[in-house]
Amino acid sequence: MENWQRTVGCGELRSSHQGQKVVLNGWVHRHRNHGGLLFISLRDRSGIVQVVFDAEVSQEAFQLAETLRGEYVVAVEGTVRLRPEGMINPAMATGEVEVVGEGLLILNPAKTPPIYIDERADDVDETLRLKYRYLDLRRAEMQKNLMLRHRVAKAARDFLDAQGFLEIETPILTKSTPEGARDFLVPSRVNPGEFYALPQSPQLFKQLLMVAGMERYFQIAKCFRDEDLRADRQPEFTQIDLEMSFIDRETILSLMEEMIAHIFREVQGIELSRPFRRMDYDEAMARYGSDKPDLRFGMELQDITDLVKDAGFQVFRNVAATGGVVKAIVATGCGNYTRKQLDELTPLAAGYGAKGVAYFALSAEGIKSSIAKFFSAEELERILNAVGAKTGDLVIMVADKPEVVNAALGGLRLEFGRRLGLTDNDKLEFLWVINFPLLEFDPTENRFVAVHHPFTSPRPEDLSLLDSDPAKARANSYDLVLNGVELGGGSIRIHRRDVQEKLFSVIGLSQEEAYEKFGYLLEAFEYGTPPHGGIAFGLDRLVMLMAKVSSIRDVIAFPKTTSATCLMTNAPSPVKPEQLKELYIETSLPRRAAE
Ligand code: AMO
Repeated sequence: MENWQRTVGCGELRSSHQGQKVVLNGWVHRHRNHGGLLFISLRDRSGIVQVVFDAEVSQEAFQLAETLRGEYVVAVEGTVRLRPEGMINPAMATGEVEVVGEGLLILNPAKTPPIYIDERADDVDETLRLKYRYLDLRRAEMQKNLMLRHRVAKAARDFLDAQGFLEIETPILTKSTPEGARDFLVPSRVNPGEFYALPQSPQLFKQLLMVAGMERYFQIAKCFRDEDLRADRQPEFTQIDLEMSFIDRETILSLMEEMIAHIFREVQGIELSRPFRRMDYDEAMARYGSDKPDLRFGMELQDITDLVKDAGFQVFRNVAATGGVVKAIVATGCGNYTRKQLDELTPLAAGYGAKGVAYFALSAEGIKSSIAKFFSAEELERILNAVGAKTGDLVIMVADKPEVVNAALGGLRLEFGRRLGLTDNDKLEFLWVINFPLLEFDPTENRFVAVHHPFTSPRPEDLSLLDSDPAKARANSYDLVLNGVELGGGSIRIHRRDVQEKLFSVIGLSQEEAYEKFGYLLEAFEYGTPPHGGIAFGLDRLVMLMAKVSSIRDVIAFPKTTSATCLMTNAPSPVKPEQLKELYIETSLPRRAAE
């Protein structure tokens, strides 16, 4: 073969290419020997096509093809022909054609890979997938996910560019930008004993870009947070981050809906219905027990405190009498749960923080419940009517402080939503959650902390509450939720020094501390700061939902495990003593880590 460079992608070949001479480059996906004929599935990023080597066409190519094994990298020269009748494969995009191999060049052989490239992710151990990520990424699913991610990022960029946003990079080696997680620290060699923090988000820089008169900023930004990891949390992740000057909440929300709609239209041809729904934080907590409710199904939390406060069941009465609440959800069709299944509700609820759980299982044979005996027939009927439970249903109740009840029943609602098949991935239920509290009291730190971040403005009408009753102040913030996942969050910011200083003092920062940490921001606010606000979306989460996968690891090329390690590079890893010395760092490790 003289020129081995590809003329067309494997996956692009169609019947219209019939008779054309082509050169293909790719990986041997599968190989089968049928006597005098060798069939190779050749794969590149565009897809897979069948190549046939026939000793009668080229003895030399045939003999070389006999040595091919899975994942060999090859160049094939050949002619496209229609597959014979009966051999057409409608499951393959290229299934109408095959390439008759006339020349073959092995560009690189391959060992037998530890992962079969055509296996589904679910069938492969994730440890292996992460260790051999470069092989895992060869799988069609992962290639599709990364292509989707590329197109989502591009659609966001194109939209924001058209709206006059400038893409501006902000530093990675910086000072702490608090978003509620721990910082990753980087020691400075030239400034012994001093550390940079990796940004938890570009929050303060984007605000300073507003002070700088950039008016509309965006960035596909890497963020770093040292926090407990979950399926939708990575220690480094990517935001579509933006900020605008001279803007109010309504304008931001409608522009962002337009952006999300643009992304779904451009990338998946899906037309979203707008405007997105909106819900106050308080309502979301009351009805769904969550500040990111999954609206793909109902099963709402129903407050039955008034109905049980005088009834015979002491536990409910006590809770009601001491400021607690009793709430219920109805799991349709679960009334025939067995004793064992019902017993399992208690540890399940405990997992969401509840001390106990009560139920009425309404089977055709009657009510199964350890507490039904404490209620009169009328009381029972009133409760069942109020929650809308019928024979065949399971009523699950939790009584406790409102936070505990909401968290537990909110969690059980999601669990039963999944069990009952109500979490349909083809549904897209967007929701803006607004009017969050500005602050919440952190009992371990014995102080108020910002619910969003401490640069979020209170609602203008709640400003005076910062002095009188900070817990009651609502934030001028907003979260975008999709199918129960927090996709993004943002706020209108504080842009006056006095208000920012007031907020710092409410969250327990002394003037000196505030100045030491954020003096540059406070100072900037004195040089003419426009009113501004913005938002950041988790790109990984958006792509995860669009790809309909259940972990952001599946849409990140090189993710970390839930214990924050990279199984491919083995990061993090110990460093040489000389490196530490150069940084003036001494380590004192717990026994196990030091061994
Ligand atoms: P927030 O902290 O809400 O806001 O983050 C915005 C969005 O980023 C995503 N996200 C994550 N994704 C993966 N792994 C993580 N560890 C992780 N943490 C957050 C979520 C979240 O909604 N500076 C503010 C934004 C602003 O006010 O403009 C911020 O970072 O999808």
